[in-house]
Amino acid sequence: MSMRSWLSSVALLFSLLCGFFAQAQTQPVDAEGHQWWQNAVFYEIYPRSFADSDNNGVGDLNGISSKMGYLRDLGVDAIWITPCYPSPQVDFGYDISDYENIDLMYGTLADFDHMVADGKKHDVRIIMDFVPNHTSDKHPWFLDSKSSRTSAHRDWYIWRDGKGPGQPPNNWISLFGGSAWKFDPTTNQYYYHFFYAQQPDLNWRNPAVETAMLGTMSWWYQRGVAGFRLDAVDTLFEDPALHDNPVLPGKNAQGDPNMENKNNTNFPEVHTELQKMRKVADESGAVLIGETWTSTAAELDCYYGRNGNELQMPMDFMFMMVDKLSPREYRRQIAAVESAHGWPVFVINNHDRERSYNRYGDGKHNDEIAKLMGAFYLTLRGTPIMYYGEEIGMRNNDPKRREDVKDPIGRTGWPKEKGRDGERTPMQWNTEPNAGFSTVKPWLPVPPSYRTHNVETESKDPNSILNLYKKVLTLRHSNEALLDGSYTALNENDTHVMSYLRSYKGKAVLVTLNMSATPEKPAFDLAKQGFGGAKLKALIASPGALLQGNRITLEPFGLMIAEVKP
Ligand code: NOJ
Repeated sequence: MSMRSWLSSVALLFSLLCGFFAQAQTQPVDAEGHQWWQNAVFYEIYPRSFADSDNNGVGDLNGISSKMGYLRDLGVDAIWITPCYPSPQVDFGYDISDYENIDLMYGTLADFDHMVADGKKHDVRIIMDFVPNHTSDKHPWFLDSKSSRTSAHRDWYIWRDGKGPGQPPNNWISLFGGSAWKFDPTTNQYYYHFFYAQQPDLNWRNPAVETAMLGTMSWWYQRGVAGFRLDAVDTLFEDPALHDNPVLPGKNAQGDPNMENKNNTNFPEVHTELQKMRKVADESGAVLIGETWTSTAAELDCYYGRNGNELQMPMDFMFMMVDKLSPREYRRQIAAVESAHGWPVFVINNHDRERSYNRYGDGKHNDEIAKLMGAFYLTLRGTPIMYYGEEIGMRNNDPKRREDVKDPIGRTGWPKEKGRDGERTPMQWNTEPNAGFSTVKPWLPVPPSYRTHNVETESKDPNSILNLYKKVLTLRHSNEALLDGSYTALNENDTHVMSYLRSYKGKAVLVTLNMSATPEKPAFDLAKQGFGGAKLKALIASPGALLQGNRITLEPFGLMIAEVKP
């Protein structure tokens, strides 16, 4: 065999294997035709803060690799890592200066490959964060773009003349404060940035941008990435005529006038691009998760695509924004997402929002409430995305002084807006200094609560938040009604207790959650659901929960997950 034909046979074999792998990833994993990501539990990692393998105060990829066993044991099937590409770190990685590499602070591409391999050993897939809307202002594309009006990359970004001397092209405001336009004296034009000025928006109307970005996605799929979380997708396109946005009454935390982002967000072209990204993803059996801020279920529905050809997993942030323990409001939200034409995706935390421990806690029953919320969203029909530390009841540790703030919006918006440092503090592993995250002072301080709320201590306490999460996740992975069953709201007039049934082919699980500070005794008649005369058997329960026939006594914020035995 000549060298050339040998090489082409190897190439063919490789492509067949790759094809097989891609196919294997898109094969349904159960009788319901579910894909792997529908039965999976996702876990968001902020890499600066998860585990610091080289003890320099900032987490890294080898740190993540070293915790794969922990993640597997917890019941995590896929981790989404927020951006770890080379970056000046103005927005802690969301300002990328090279899409096809790893920032030295986090490791190397070789470390990345090891992490993928470690993940495979532990059955944990890797999801990368993809930032299509903007690059860093230090990205070579932007450096070239700003160098002259005729540079090769000029039209990769959005450059315009001002309205007049010292006047930006229109009234658009950056989400992070001030005008969304920055004047650049080199070429006497303004460039557009929806976020920080160091994050210039790419011009998605230029086909070269699309080609480069789709190519990058495919490059990572070939490196073993199982999907992407797409950042700020609603901001990809703007009105080319640059009409002003309508101004609303009042000011925001940054002191800017409130504005309806009518002419710079949510353009229909976003969906055309998502369809193209989905095509590339499908070739590798990958999954696309969306950072999809919407205010109605109908808007969320659009992100699945008319033929299910856009995002498999647009995140339902309307659920996360319910900040009160209100069964009525939750029923409403769940009914809304259930009416959409795609698979629900639930989150209660992320790196941009105050932690749920603070948001839902009443100061007296915080741990019970943390368990209640875990038992709640992890037993809904849909895929949950956890946020690191949620499983041990990590709380926000907001900066106390302006000079300690790392997140730029916390400095410009102080004291109204303290920034997002508080929800990004180091993972609390044990009772050692810095919570075992690092032997040196970490980039953000750990809160004093690390002494009681950490992995090591909670692992030994059968009644801890961590052990409740583990029990629920174990059940979720093995129970057909929780994996594949429908969702039916129960006792819909109850304003204190949230109850629902998950049922599948004659099997069912009942979940009842006391969202109030008073003891409650919900009773259940399941005849209408086809389970008349069925008996309940507790599977997971809070210490004070008691089952008597079809009545369940729940202490304040108590919970029970019960099997329905026909
Ligand atoms: C959304 C990300 O979640 C946030 O952290 C970031 O600052 C902005 N997009 C800009 O990329």
